[in-house]
Amino acid sequence: MDEYATLTYNGKEILLPVITGSEGEKAIDISSLRAETGFITLDPGYANTGSCLSAITFMDGEKGILRYRGIPVEQLAEHSSFKETVYLLINGRLPNRNELTRFSVMLNDNSLVHTDLKTFFQNYPRGAHPMGILSSMVNALRSFYPALDSHEEEINITMTRLLSKVRTMAAMSYKISRGHEIVFPRPDLTYCENFLNMMFDSPVKPYEIKRETVNALRGFWILHADHEQNCSTSAVRMVGSARVNLYAAISSGIAALWGPLHGGANQAVIEMLTAIQKDGGNCQKTVQRAKDRNDPFRLMGFGHRVYKTYDPRAKIMKKMCDNLLESMQIDDPLLNIARELEEIALRDQYFIDHNLYPNVDFYSGIVLRAIGIPTNMFTVMFALGRLPGWIAQWKESIDDPHWKIARPRQIYTGNLCYDYIPIHAR
Ligand code: ACO
Repeated sequence: MDEYATLTYNGKEILLPVITGSEGEKAIDISSLRAETGFITLDPGYANTGSCLSAITFMDGEKGILRYRGIPVEQLAEHSSFKETVYLLINGRLPNRNELTRFSVMLNDNSLVHTDLKTFFQNYPRGAHPMGILSSMVNALRSFYPALDSHEEEINITMTRLLSKVRTMAAMSYKISRGHEIVFPRPDLTYCENFLNMMFDSPVKPYEIKRETVNALRGFWILHADHEQNCSTSAVRMVGSARVNLYAAISSGIAALWGPLHGGANQAVIEMLTAIQKDGGNCQKTVQRAKDRNDPFRLMGFGHRVYKTYDPRAKIMKKMCDNLLESMQIDDPLLNIARELEEIALRDQYFIDHNLYPNVDFYSGIVLRAIGIPTNMFTVMFALGRLPGWIAQWKESIDDPHWKIARPRQIYTGNLCYDYIPIHAR
């Protein structure tokens, strides 16, 4: 039975259709609102606005649920390879053995980057943030790989190129930033092993690929692979709606992710924990600061727009962090500070009242430190993990027959019309 919501204004009544998702979540379809009433809706930060219908990721912020294409993220983090999760997100189902092999071959075939790109990397100022470099380099890929004639081929090959080359480029930028020789991808290594080898192998110290490290990276990337209509994904969809090429759309996602309120939070958490350590380890003082309305400081790695309970990814990340540090016999003082900070915050009335819990970034930085990733590369690691989600969401949007260019409206609050005043009369 069709459901409607009734809107009454100035004695006029209009019926707005109610849309129900497959998990029972409801939305009021206001697409006819302006045509029927002349009104628009106002929703700063889009907290109550559904921008699309999507079959990729389901999350329930109250219950702490996250599923990719219906599969709980806990199961994927435990059993799946990153490559398989990538396939699942983009194609909508798990691959069979043949499909996975074919996908691996395609990723391998596209893993090298044009050597001229090296010149770009080398000419960025020393100390430039890797996210700024990555965002512009991904955009630059279009110049190196012009559009292909067949639309289908262009989409499939561009997706594969991005998944494979951005990983190579991230490792390459790290090597160049250290003044070291670039390490090329190897066909005998898995997706995660290859990345670690390109990052850390050196002619004077061959990199030992350890099972625990590879497993931690696999888990880290799976937990970051998609998160429905977050800020960077919405940026990819919005920029993509103007029908730009996929490189440009992904580049905008990377730029959005850079922000400290989004993907940049993993770096900000480590900086916060380090500052607490330097200050003598006083967690209570940091929590007090986060509660002070006159101080813009926030407890980094805490709070989420959708999760009003413990972020399910943070739960897995915390366990992964404990296991990794134990198996590698690493004693990271920042982990003890993080645990204490979490304990104090979760008992604090302000955090209880505001439903503030650790998010995925709270423990992820400690995992990355244990793997050996430098702090300024943390958000790049997030971007590599989120790449399949951005691609899947972009693909869904371009395949959507109802898709329109994204173009929100506004309520104008500026000056009323007045005449131009010549400069001598001002
Ligand atoms: N520390 C202290 N107070 C907080 C925090 C925090 N981390 N997060 C939210 N609050 C408070 C706000 O001050 C506000 O309080 P008030 O209502 O009394 O004024 C209230 O909680 C709601 O905050 P909003 O900013 O309106 O919540 P929103 O949903 O817009 O923001 C966000 C979510 C940006 C993640 C926020 O919680 C935050 O800034 N967290 C810290 C940064 C962070 O960890 N970001 C990573 C998010 S996960 C991701 O992107 C991968």
